[in-house]
Amino acid sequence: MSGRTSLVLITALTALIQRAHAASIYVSPTGAGSGTVDSPYGSIQTAVNAAKAGDVIYLRAGTYSPTTNIKITKSGTVTSPITLRSYNDEKVIINGESLPGTPYGLDESLPNDERGILHIEGGNYWYFYNLELINGPYGVYARDSSHNYYERLSTHDNYESGFQLQGTASNNTVIYLDSYMNRDPRKNGESADGFACKEGSGTGNSIRNSRLWNNVDDGLDLYLFGSPVTIEEVYAWGNGFNRWGFSSFNGDGNGFKLGITDNPPANHIIRNSMAFANAKKGFIDNGNPGSLTFERNTAWNNGDNGFNMRSSKSTLKSNIAALNINAQVSLISGTTSSGNSWDSSTTWSNSSFLSVDYSTLAGARGSDGKIKASNFLVPTSGAAIGATTQAKI
Ligand SMILES: *[C@@H]1O[C@H](CO)[C@@H](O)[C@H](O)[C@H]1NC(C)=O
Ligand SMILES: *[C@@H]1O[C@H](CO)[C@@H](O)[C@H](O)[C@H]1NC(C)=O
Repeated sequence: MSGRTSLVLITALTALIQRAHAASIYVSPTGAGSGTVDSPYGSIQTAVNAAKAGDVIYLRAGTYSPTTNIKITKSGTVTSPITLRSYNDEKVIINGESLPGTPYGLDESLPNDERGILHIEGGNYWYFYNLELINGPYGVYARDSSHNYYERLSTHDNYESGFQLQGTASNNTVIYLDSYMNRDPRKNGESADGFACKEGSGTGNSIRNSRLWNNVDDGLDLYLFGSPVTIEEVYAWGNGFNRWGFSSFNGDGNGFKLGITDNPPANHIIRNSMAFANAKKGFIDNGNPGSLTFERNTAWNNGDNGFNMRSSKSTLKSNIAALNINAQVSLISGTTSSGNSWDSSTTWSNSSFLSVDYSTLAGARGSDGKIKASNFLVPTSGAAIGATTQAKI
């Protein structure tokens, strides 16, 4: 047997042994036991502390109200991830209202280790499914964590961003996220986004089939993240309005904010996504000096330009900008533009779309977790232009 063959065998055996020993760990809001199905733990942290690679932590229905945030600092492995999920799709709410920092006073700082109802730091190969995280100092805050998979999370009414990746982060997948009504009284709305991937780098991160709405700052923000993020079927609306009566309002109000001046070049890819009814711009490079790709997106009815490229050498193909306030687009020279609404002389009005009613888009997801298809913003012409919930593009 060659060295390589034995190495492969040992790796396979290790994975098998880990799987054979994989445990199911149960937690219930009313539990006081030892983590079995009949005698669940009462604390999610206790279950996390007990979990080993390959284990599945099942949360039973109800509302959990931790008084310290849930810290995840251990890792699974590529073949034996650790899973944290609701049991049988029971409704699980983790309410962060009793945590520190909900909220701290104006201009006070929120220490790193208090961020997040789920504070993941150096935690890799975790799978999360079907959890609702509310009223926390961030919903999910994952720093220096990679290879994690987040499916069907709902993060809302948190006192900072609903969902944030930060630091060294690669190969994280976020799918079927709903993140809304997040706000930061501590900063009068300056930084609570629906989804943020900020201040760090690492390839292979993606967000898909997600909705980011009515957040105080931006729908999505990639502030100072120096590697490409893939964004597909993401819908951002209603962001950047002062719904909380902050005295001095700092919300930015862009649907998709894709960097900042001084951002390292980050060639993000944005496809089949929509920005509508945001306070300001639909899609903005915001100073990112990279080469971004925009394909089949739609910006409609926003409070400023649909697409605003002021720094990047981006490629924009088959996008729609319609009924936005101010110029539909503002693109510096050096961008490449083809097949977009603004590349032809067609005039776009609400009747250019089969529907301008987003109630299906905003409504209940299908049992598969996907947003239900509708005619919202589908061009009446049938042209293959702009985003659509009807097809994967
Ligand atoms: C990325 O993470 C997934 C788990 O979400 C894992 O299955 C896959 O092997 C990882 N890919 C790489 C290149 O590490
Ligand atoms: C287009 O439709 C939206 C949603 O009904 C509405 O708010 C907006 O005022 C309409 N715009 C025009 C120019 O009719």
